[in-house]
Amino acid sequence: MLKSYLSTTVVALAAVRASASILSQVPFGGPSQFLSSDSSNSVRILTHESHPDHSLTIKPHYSNDVSTKGDGNTVADICPGATSGYTGYLNSGSKHFYFAYFESKSKPKDDPLVLWLNGGPGCSSMMGLFMELGPCIVNEGGESARENPDSWTNAASVFFLDQPIGVGFSYSSNGSVHGGEGGTFAASEDIYAFMRLWYKAFPESRTLPFSIAGESYGGHYIPVFAEHINQMNKITGIDDQIPLESVMIGNGIFSDLKQASSYYDIPCTNVTGIGPLLDESVCKKMAAAVPRCEYLLKACHEFPDPLICRASAGYCANELENPYFKSGLNYYDISKPCEGYLCYPIIESITKYLRTDKVREAFGVDKAAPQFEGCSNKVGREFQKVNDFIIDTRPFVAALLNTGIRVMIYVGTYDWICNFVGNERVFGSLKWDGLPDFRYQQENNKQVWDGGLWWESGLLRYVRINGAGHMVPHDKPVEALKLFKAWLDKKPL
Ligand SMILES: *[C@@H]1O[C@H](CO)[C@@H](O)[C@H](O)[C@H]1NC(C)=O
Ligand SMILES: *[C@@H]1O[C@H](CO)[C@@H](O)[C@H](O)[C@H]1NC(C)=O
Repeated sequence: MLKSYLSTTVVALAAVRASASILSQVPFGGPSQFLSSDSSNSVRILTHESHPDHSLTIKPHYSNDVSTKGDGNTVADICPGATSGYTGYLNSGSKHFYFAYFESKSKPKDDPLVLWLNGGPGCSSMMGLFMELGPCIVNEGGESARENPDSWTNAASVFFLDQPIGVGFSYSSNGSVHGGEGGTFAASEDIYAFMRLWYKAFPESRTLPFSIAGESYGGHYIPVFAEHINQMNKITGIDDQIPLESVMIGNGIFSDLKQASSYYDIPCTNVTGIGPLLDESVCKKMAAAVPRCEYLLKACHEFPDPLICRASAGYCANELENPYFKSGLNYYDISKPCEGYLCYPIIESITKYLRTDKVREAFGVDKAAPQFEGCSNKVGREFQKVNDFIIDTRPFVAALLNTGIRVMIYVGTYDWICNFVGNERVFGSLKWDGLPDFRYQQENNKQVWDGGLWWESGLLRYVRINGAGHMVPHDKPVEALKLFKAWLDKKPL
């Protein structure tokens, strides 16, 4: 095993040098230019001397605009609207992290670079790709996909990465390695290594602003990953900096303690404009349970013993979550019934599509990767076992803001699970230098835009999207692209 690893590394170093010289003659534009000098579809392996345990395997793919020797089963055939890019794996020991990358449709040489992460924990970023903001959306029935006119690839080059190990097309070649056991922090070193390897191979992309975006449990992942990059940037030379410029988090979970009470507000009041949704008697009981749930959660935070935390989570789930689940409403969108797996029939269509051999082959999925699942229950349980849900990521967000990284929080107002009331409690109490002014803006200076209301102070922007659920780009694609573009352009909404 060691022998083959070493021989791969030697080949890889040669490949990096060769590719770097080809790419340095052409502006960063990804593989379309690369193709003209080397029209092979060959896989390359990239390495970095500072990350000897990691390697990046990348396979180019091409948009249908570029003349390809396509066999009808290319990424662009599977995913209409796909631009050129790469698919591949970040490898580290037995760990293999899958990614798909699409260059920007507009100006790939100038447009920002964005890493997209879905939440869960345990959900695949392929859901973001095929359901929300990727170049294509899977059609009902799961036989095909259609172009997404509002893809975020209209404005940026986007990576979709599956993490931790055990999620989507990411896998371990050692059955004893489970990605979820390390919780939120599990993949932070790997994601940092991923970007280091990327910038070594594509140094011209270093001048493009880099952002990490995602939703839901991304409220845990993104502050932690971004702050890790931030810390590493402090101890690496100027040539090794990751040009992290901003983070964007949609309907995130940052603090269970701060957000728990909002499980009452959303279905039991009219903050959403379409409430209340539950019976008065049920709501009365829920209201009474809020202080006790918070009190018990505090006990778990203070004494994070599984016995205490299981009891507090059990009480809160019984009293504040179950009444909503029993209503039969979609927990990601209060305006809809819950239909199908995770309340969205399209998730089954995506799962069906991504399980086919043609999709796996075109998307460069390793044979050893397991059958696709939208969300891995196993990884979810592993996170629960290590008490990951109680991690409060607010200090990580504050650290980003205090060191000059911009933060955009955007929240669909019809979500229940990570709703706007909870998010506003989080950001209205976030301990950072700009808090007093942020609160002033929140209370006195809300601005109107096409999608709803927004306000900001300094580096922190908060956006509501009226009538969108948990997955904002799925529900309000036009507004989502607008807020994404405005943010990247550093413009008001
Ligand atoms: C698999 O992982 C376990 C736990 O990290 C490790 O102890 C073991 O040596 C690994 N086995 C192989 C074959 O790499
Ligand atoms: C809830 O709010 C909406 C919008 O403000 C309003 O039209 C509706 O009548 C309210 N419903 C109730 C029950 O108060």
